[in-house]
Amino acid sequence: MFRKIISAVMMITALHAHAQQNADMKMKTFIDVLMKKMTLEEKIGQLNLPSAGDITTGQASNSDIAIKIREGKVGGLFNIKSVGKIKEVQKIAVEQSRLKIPLLFGMDVIHGYETVFPIPLGLSCTWDMNLIERSARIAATEASADGINWTFSPMVDICRDPRWGRIAEGAGEDPYLGSQVAKAMVKGYQGDDLKKNNTILACVKHYALYGAAEGGRDYNTVDMSHQRMYNDYLPPYKAAVDAGVGSVMTSFNEVDGIPATANKWLLTNVLRKQWGFKGFVVSDYTSVNEMTAHGIGDLQTVSARALNAGLDMDMVGEGFLTTLPKSLKEGKVSLAQINAACRKILEAKYKLGLFDDPYKYCDENRAKTEIFTSENRKEARSIAAQSFVLLKNQGNLLPLKKSGTIALIGPLADNKSNMNGTWSVAADFSKPISLYTGLKEAVGDKINILLAKGSNLEEDSLLEERETMFGKSLGRDHRPAEVILQEALNIANQSDVIVAALGESAEMSGESSSRSMIGIPSIQEKLLRALLKTGKPVVLVLFTGRPLTIKWEQDNVPAILNVWFGGSEAGHAIADVLFGEVNPSGKLTATWPQNTGQIPLYYAHKNTGRPLEGQWFQKFRSNYLDVSNDPVYPFGYGLSYTTFNYSDITLSTSSIKQGESLTANITVTNTGSYEGKEVVQLYIRDMVASVTRPVRELKGFQKIDLKPGESKVVTFTISPEDLKFYNYDLKYVAEPGEFRVYIGGNSDAVKEASFTLK
Ligand code: BGC
Repeated sequence: MFRKIISAVMMITALHAHAQQNADMKMKTFIDVLMKKMTLEEKIGQLNLPSAGDITTGQASNSDIAIKIREGKVGGLFNIKSVGKIKEVQKIAVEQSRLKIPLLFGMDVIHGYETVFPIPLGLSCTWDMNLIERSARIAATEASADGINWTFSPMVDICRDPRWGRIAEGAGEDPYLGSQVAKAMVKGYQGDDLKKNNTILACVKHYALYGAAEGGRDYNTVDMSHQRMYNDYLPPYKAAVDAGVGSVMTSFNEVDGIPATANKWLLTNVLRKQWGFKGFVVSDYTSVNEMTAHGIGDLQTVSARALNAGLDMDMVGEGFLTTLPKSLKEGKVSLAQINAACRKILEAKYKLGLFDDPYKYCDENRAKTEIFTSENRKEARSIAAQSFVLLKNQGNLLPLKKSGTIALIGPLADNKSNMNGTWSVAADFSKPISLYTGLKEAVGDKINILLAKGSNLEEDSLLEERETMFGKSLGRDHRPAEVILQEALNIANQSDVIVAALGESAEMSGESSSRSMIGIPSIQEKLLRALLKTGKPVVLVLFTGRPLTIKWEQDNVPAILNVWFGGSEAGHAIADVLFGEVNPSGKLTATWPQNTGQIPLYYAHKNTGRPLEGQWFQKFRSNYLDVSNDPVYPFGYGLSYTTFNYSDITLSTSSIKQGESLTANITVTNTGSYEGKEVVQLYIRDMVASVTRPVRELKGFQKIDLKPGESKVVTFTISPEDLKFYNYDLKYVAEPGEFRVYIGGNSDAVKEASFTLK
């Protein structure tokens, strides 16, 4: 019987492999025939990715870009929205250009299309890969219904410096979790068949190490050891490649002294040779041209270097388009390299089915019925509620009762345009649900909700302007600060509970939104202190795109709910959690430091030769004079309206041999009075190795649901893979010796066991 099953499986696998080979051969023949007809200019044209600029519906054929498309000088376009426009432009390509090659249409569909989900950092706090995949699936369905066939997502840059604004776009600090998220998103976008009309090509970015910009300043230099790269920063990109991602975007930063966009080691040795990546590589926005400013040559030089390094497509800067013909003549690039790049782009179009039907994503009916639907918004609401992290809940102040009077105060209390957060280019900013609307709809006339702004976002209007770009205004109140504050205190004094909606605006995180100090802006801090002084209970609803330094708030505010930027349904979702319709279950995926001076602060740090053991402060130990080494909230942290108890850990064995697995069991009990979800986390420490290893590393997690009083046994299988790391020679190995296992509800997990690898 067993043999029969094995041989059946082998036969199916062989059939699959055969079918794949046939499909590949068919594609190769098709592209061979096409490329034989192409001039050099047309081949280089495929490598060109301009931004669409302002194309008005009905006017596409008169646009500047149309001329280039007709001449075969464009491989794809981005920043163009709507089926109508995209169809018009595609028509120019397939009816008016010589070889009728269809275009790719890209867009930054980062956390939803018109239905917006929480910012990626928030999404990662659900620790729920099905939900994350689902959000990407919905995003792909909406985007593809509107003509888009390629998204510049997932962004998987590991970040351990919350000053960097783009931490909002990724999954936080951990390579293991980041890799799971990368896989889930690729699967969500690309589905199981790119030929379908509701799946789109994904693009993992920004390859590589962009999240390690020095000082957290965007676009800044990156410099790190290969040890750290391979073990901590590269895994999520690799996971996306393993999941079959169709394209990769290079990063703006340098890697080992060479900008990523021209880094042959990165683009060819690692990506293609070591990882076997088969798709195409696109630059970031003008990152080819920017290598001149990096100081490695003029446009012709950097373009040639990029192509030779393994870059296939040039976003916006047209370095390829304008200089590759000359470089070819001068022998600085080869025709083989141009052909290889062109082939990769054509393959992507082929795989998407664009040669069979260039209009397959241009179905007006789908555009009308599949975008921003009530079902999608319902899912967005539920996902948003699960991304929120309850940071503090003294005396069970939350959930709120639906009676009495609530004073809703703060610059973010009644704003729509900021609810989507950064990168929501397809969304209509007038559509999201504000917190005020969400609360009012939740309580009807049961509760009186009083509203006041209390303060502007920032005291400094210029700073506020910078932080509210792209139409995401908070409506500056020009009255004197004292008057604005007094108005809020008046309603606070009439209330039973104060909900303070404070924190960052949407554009305080994201691209080019680095901050040197990451607290709540001081004018809002002042408001918060005044509200606390009223003696009324205060719930801080914190909006942010990054970890903030809120030590004072943690010490002084009774309840804090972190809500990131929740997307289209933010207001409803926050109300769901505040009133207990949903029990919060989000867990942080990046450490929250006490102050900026502690950065970088992350749980998987090395032990050093002089670790602080026991009480802070100790002379000649690795610690600061003025602040302890502790974060305010560790990685993995998040509270619930209920409480969970963890039993001791039972291991299936105390020793294994190379290649063997073991299991770790723990019983988790809901000891409170609400049903709740808990993310049970498994960490491992390799006690002795040939190179230094982190004090603990996440190696597994399970999200479970428990009724009050209910217990569940959670079983983790620890496989040989979980014990492996890249050693000094960058070999992926598990070394013999002792391993410690920790399981708990955050990275400070105290339950501990140990086993030996023989
Ligand atoms: C960003 C990318 C983005 C691209 C296209 C760049 O500025 O770094 O993340 O995909 O623009 O919009």
